Amino acid sequence: MKKLYLSQIENGSPISHDLYNSHGAILVPKGKIMTPKLREQLLRNNIDSFSVDITGYEQVEDHYEHFDESVIREIEAVKKVYNDSFAALSSELETFKRHQHFSKATMRETAKELVESIGKYKHVYLGLEGIRRKDVYTYIHSLDVAIFMIVLGKTLTMNKNDLEQAALAGLLHDIGKTAIDDSILLKPAKLSFSEMETMKKHSEIGYDILKNKLHYPEFVARVALEHHERVDMQGYPRKLNWDHIHLFSKMAAICDVYDAITAERIYKRAMLPHDAIEYLMTIVGTHLDQALTTQFIRNIVVYPLGTRVRLNSGEIGIVVRLHDGYPTRPVVKCIENRALRDLMIDHTIFVDQVCYSEN
Ligand SMILES: [Fe+2]
Repeated sequence: MKKLYLSQIENGSPISHDLYNSHGAILVPKGKIMTPKLREQLLRNNIDSFSVDITGYEQVEDHYEHFDESVIREIEAVKKVYNDSFAALSSELETFKRHQHFSKATMRETAKELVESIGKYKHVYLGLEGIRRKDVYTYIHSLDVAIFMIVLGKTLTMNKNDLEQAALAGLLHDIGKTAIDDSILLKPAKLSFSEMETMKKHSEIGYDILKNKLHYPEFVARVALEHHERVDMQGYPRKLNWDHIHLFSKMAAICDVYDAITAERIYKRAMLPHDAIEYLMTIVGTHLDQALTTQFIRNIVVYPLGTRVRLNSGEIGIVVRLHDGYPTRPVVKCIENRALRDLMIDHTIFVDQVCYSEN
């Protein structure tokens, strides 16, 4: 994340990146031309600087030269839906935070589009670590939870209507955070005990907003209320008996934890998928539902597209294609001689380790 001042942008030039405020809401979309009128509007609203995401997808794009045309086309299609959904969600939550206005129709449409897109490109969503923007936005987390909820729902063979409801519940599960002070919400370090207690209130606040202010069905509000409850009744806010927790809340709990540990934060490095699976297994039965977590893990792509791996042959390569249902047998393009190693065909070769850095 980089800070960009309004004074650094010239009039008449198209803006090269989406410009965000500190909450991750888009203030000026990419491609818009800066004019004196727009500048004046921004200044009138006390906006003189923006946050710019300079990491985001670049990681995946860095590897485009290795991918097939068809893979690139699918990635681009997914990126479009992801960006549009993020823009809709962040702008709705931001408007709600400031003015208490909220478009339920926009949210319903976003949930629908996500379900449709994941229906077509589930393998891309899962195989693409780069789709998940590695930054500190609160709203991105809600979008990612919604995506994982849809994927898990599909594994549980939910129908389209249930998938859309699960997506909606995922998008809105942390809406209570709009009432938490920024000094706590955006603190780039561990929270103190009292800050944590304040933060925990977002569950009950979220329930109240969804149920009483926005008049969503009870089960949507319950996901906001219950997604931090645990199997061993040590969660919050109510330490409820697990049998009384809604299925969507149990799903959200898994997606919430997985996203939190695999997303990069300013103060901690992201866990790679294979380590994240190990971690999930250690909290199954105490924190997370065992049967649902097992289903969830079936979907995790161990070596996402663009992952740099070392094969047992000693070769180092990039994961360029995935085989559906065989997460440990991707197609790897060797860096040194550009040879393709299809681990589905050559059973003597396997991934020895993930290379964390360029060397
Ligand atoms: Fe939460």
